[in-house]
Amino acid sequence: MQAFNIKVNGSRYRIDADPAMPLLWALRDRLNLTGTKYGCGAGLCGACTVHQNGRAVRSCQITMAQADGKSFITIEGLSTKGTHPCQRAWLEEDVAQCGFCQPGMIMEAAALLRAHPSVSDAEIGQALDSHICRCGTYTKIRAAVHRAASAR
Ligand code: FES
Ligand code: FES
Repeated sequence: MQAFNIKVNGSRYRIDADPAMPLLWALRDRLNLTGTKYGCGAGLCGACTVHQNGRAVRSCQITMAQADGKSFITIEGLSTKGTHPCQRAWLEEDVAQCGFCQPGMIMEAAALLRAHPSVSDAEIGQALDSHICRCGTYTKIRAAVHRAASAR
């Protein structure tokens, strides 16, 4: 066990953990930020996506040793009232089915729109094709990203 310091959604935390423990477990099990989901644990599904310096990263692939001293934003911190353009567009397009993959999808889309405010269909595909939705909401997700882009 070692002590690690991370900043999440603007608050600082000290986490005692094994250096190899994934950041995802700190978020979900220590900080109770369960909006970030555990899907594959292998960097393949995107369910665990959070932001680090505005970039989308997969928290199951970041160890506590790597996370030490860094700042992260989770879906809970994306906006204070759920009014981020992506969150609004997701509701307006009625995207979610079971909802499990959606926090990761929204975090990826938010990072994409931050980097590319007038995003192309190809760029959406490039960013989101590595996310898995078992309910097959891909078409609605794409529509929601376009809606969020035009709302900015
Ligand atoms: S749980 Fe991290 S990519 Fe699947
Ligand atoms: S909405 Fe069910 S996995 Fe995507």
